[in-house]
Amino acid sequence: MLQTKKKGFYVKMKLLNNTRIHKNQEKRIFCQRYLKWILWFSISFYFFSSFITTHNKPISRTVLSHHSNPSRALIEESSIKNLDIFKGMKVYIYDLPSKYNKDWLTNERCSTHLFAAEVALHNALMNSETTTFDPWEADFFFLPVYVSCNFSKVNGFPAIGHARSLISSAIEHISYQLPFWNRSLGSDHVFVASHDFGSCFHTMEDVAIADGVPEFLKNSIILQTFGVNYKHPCQEVENVVIPPYIPPESVRATLKKSPVDGRRDIFAFFRGKMELHPKNVSGRFYGKQVRTMIWRKYGNDRRFYLRRERFAGYQSEIVRSTFCLCPLGWAPWSPRLVESVALGCVPVIIADGIRLPFPSAVPWADISLTVAENDVDNLGKILEHVATTNLTKIQKNLRDPEVRKALLFNNPMTQGDATWQVLLTLSQKLDRSHKKSRVSTQ
Ligand SMILES: *[C@@H]1O[C@H](CO)[C@@H](O)[C@H](O)[C@H]1NC(C)=O
Ligand SMILES: *[C@@H]1O[C@H](CO)[C@@H](O)[C@H](O)[C@H]1NC(C)=O
Ligand SMILES: *[C@@H]1O[C@H](CO)[C@@H](O)[C@H](O)[C@H]1NC(C)=O
Ligand SMILES: *[C@@H]1O[C@H](CO)[C@@H](O)[C@H](O)[C@H]1NC(C)=O
Repeated sequence: MLQTKKKGFYVKMKLLNNTRIHKNQEKRIFCQRYLKWILWFSISFYFFSSFITTHNKPISRTVLSHHSNPSRALIEESSIKNLDIFKGMKVYIYDLPSKYNKDWLTNERCSTHLFAAEVALHNALMNSETTTFDPWEADFFFLPVYVSCNFSKVNGFPAIGHARSLISSAIEHISYQLPFWNRSLGSDHVFVASHDFGSCFHTMEDVAIADGVPEFLKNSIILQTFGVNYKHPCQEVENVVIPPYIPPESVRATLKKSPVDGRRDIFAFFRGKMELHPKNVSGRFYGKQVRTMIWRKYGNDRRFYLRRERFAGYQSEIVRSTFCLCPLGWAPWSPRLVESVALGCVPVIIADGIRLPFPSAVPWADISLTVAENDVDNLGKILEHVATTNLTKIQKNLRDPEVRKALLFNNPMTQGDATWQVLLTLSQKLDRSHKKSRVSTQ
């Protein structure tokens, strides 16, 4: 697994870099740097301050010379490799008035709930070595607008009715102040749309489809949790599927408290909204009634641990489970996908046509099961079959720390995590960069 992964990165590096270094040498350097990075991380965790004075790699000199701030320099040094992998890509982050972002943070949930990738990515990018403070040298322009933090007082869910106007007002703001939006009509500008139907900005699919992607975003790059592998009006725009946000601290805390022997006493787990008599909302049923079917068929099945109430400690149940059901909700994606992977429970994806995040980093077919929506009646049989055949193999694949890391947004960003994957994907879109010609002749 790790071996093929490294090969994968190596091939990518080779394609991306168009480098003159000999194959083997490059591979060796890559491994060395990778090891170096792990070492750096663990050592610096305990010996942060002494590290600065004792560690002085010649390789980092050019980068270090740009910065006087030691902690900043240290971050740069730790991810020298990133500069290669990202092909020297630079991202400029607009400094918007606080009404577009920071003001929303007064509500603590804004930076922790499942749509909080818009906040997490912003924070992680601010600390990334790919970030530039000079827009003239930028390849991409990130607009940090938090649209999912207007929590409804009635049901507690984010109201995103204001999303379009908030973003369009932010675009107006930057296009008057600086020439970069007008220069490209937004094609090198990056936005996050981390709620149900992404860049369509509505929670109900029929309305989302009717509204479509707003005109002012159509040229841009949208990082969205929504993705399907068929034509859909809410992805008629350059887009990257990103994972929903799960606080990495919560995962770490759960793992710390999990049984030492790694025993999983729950066979199949699901906790969440599961209506017995689903409401017909404008001709649509929540989760296409899949959850209702699961509840009806397996509610009394002892192999299934199904709960409909909210429970803050549900991660401790995931870590005890072998299979974690990830049925669609209003949209196909679910935060359960991330939590299952991060906590080593085999995700059982029940969401026809779903397009999953970062397929080049996460071998979804090897670490999860996919069950068709109209096959949930056979769920018990399917899971039993897997349990007696290839479950061990799937669980082994799932233990790969690289896979688990790819779906979490850390701050600061760590190599291979979700923000890193976003940057890697952007670096494959450098043909959109105004600076492109300069880069390719270097
Ligand atoms: C927040 O959402 C409500 C609808 O639930 C809307 O009336 C209000 O204008 C929104 N607030 C902002 C600042 O956009
Ligand atoms: C960008 O275009 C808009 C609309 O045409 C215009 O009002 C604005 O002044 C332009 N911005 C700059 C910086 O030239
Ligand atoms: C759901 O409601 C719509 C009207 O909003 C109606 O046309 C449709 O027949 C209803 N579906 C079912 C299964 O009741
Ligand atoms: C495990 O078996 C199931 C059902 O036979 C199959 O669909 C799946 O692709 C297999 N997964 C792996 C990783 O072998």
